Amino acid sequence: MPHLLTTDPAVAATALFQGRVAVLPTETVYGLGAVADDASAVARVFAIKGRPVDHPLIAHVRDQDTALAWVRDVPDYAIRLMESLWPGPLTLVLPRSKRAADYLTGGQDTVAVRVPGAPITREVIRELARMSGDSAVAIAAPSANRFGRVSPTTAQHAIDELGDLLEEGDVVLDAGPCVVGVESTIVDCTADRPVILRPGKVTAEQVIQATGLELGTHSQVRAPGTLPSHYAPHARVVVTNDSGIHELAADARVGVIALASVSTPAGIVRLCAPRTVEEYASSLYRALREADSLELSTVVVVPPPGEGLAEAIRDRLQRAATQ
Ligand code: TXA
Ligand code: MG
Repeated sequence: MPHLLTTDPAVAATALFQGRVAVLPTETVYGLGAVADDASAVARVFAIKGRPVDHPLIAHVRDQDTALAWVRDVPDYAIRLMESLWPGPLTLVLPRSKRAADYLTGGQDTVAVRVPGAPITREVIRELARMSGDSAVAIAAPSANRFGRVSPTTAQHAIDELGDLLEEGDVVLDAGPCVVGVESTIVDCTADRPVILRPGKVTAEQVIQATGLELGTHSQVRAPGTLPSHYAPHARVVVTNDSGIHELAADARVGVIALASVSTPAGIVRLCAPRTVEEYASSLYRALREADSLELSTVVVVPPPGEGLAEAIRDRLQRAATQ
């Protein structure tokens, strides 16, 4: 294991400052970070993930003021979103300032910015800002998984995904399991109304409430990460309903993910039984990984009903089920 495993945010900040990459916890999922102004460190992030270079990264910044260094032409409703929902699991897509380089934005004229909510992530950014004397420093970080696969929600999951490609000097910052468990809500703020590009813990209702606007339905923005097939384990994912589960015949190579209120037929592996939608989100990716470590052929999933975070879970499951 050539990389350094640590629980100290200052160690991660030092590595980033020295041009290394760092696996970083956030409240949503673990990211693979590099200083956003450092072209060669960001290039390593793309290479390690196996991500096409036209798939842009999110710039993680300290606060609303420093976010403004990365964007321009910010509509009032985006300011209202920043004020009411940052720090938190919300990413805003805005026209980019000169600071946001092509290698960060995939050559697009927009950039995605987010002020993460997890105290440890904020501490890394604060330390990095202090070391570099640059208050608006940003960490470019996609989720710390190989392209198209399941996002990691623990440091060990990130090491399982990418550990063999990390080098001497790179760091993995371990802060335990992520609280939210699914990626941030992405809102396109480039038109006269907000458009949700990726659902997450921040709900449509919250965006409407914060902005006082109805949501737009069409976006001109290209979000290449929101591909039909994504978040996929090796096992086949089949989305069904309660009665679908009860029709399953005993098969030791099949696993089930469903709320605790849904029972599992005998002879089938139960991968998780969350009691709430929040617990569903925070255990989903771990359960999908577990299916692969148990070498299951199929994961049968009953998605949670309802709006908000449940929609984000259904969105990920649908993509995981797309071959
Ligand atoms: O919760 C999260 O957002 C996590 C943590 C680490 O912050 N990050 C994450 O990053 O999920 P990633 O790269 O796996 O997903 C970012 C998504 C991609 O779908 C990408 O296409 C989209 O954001 N995106 C980034 N910049 C964009 C831009 N300028 N315009 C449109 N979409 C953009
Ligand atoms: Mg991702």
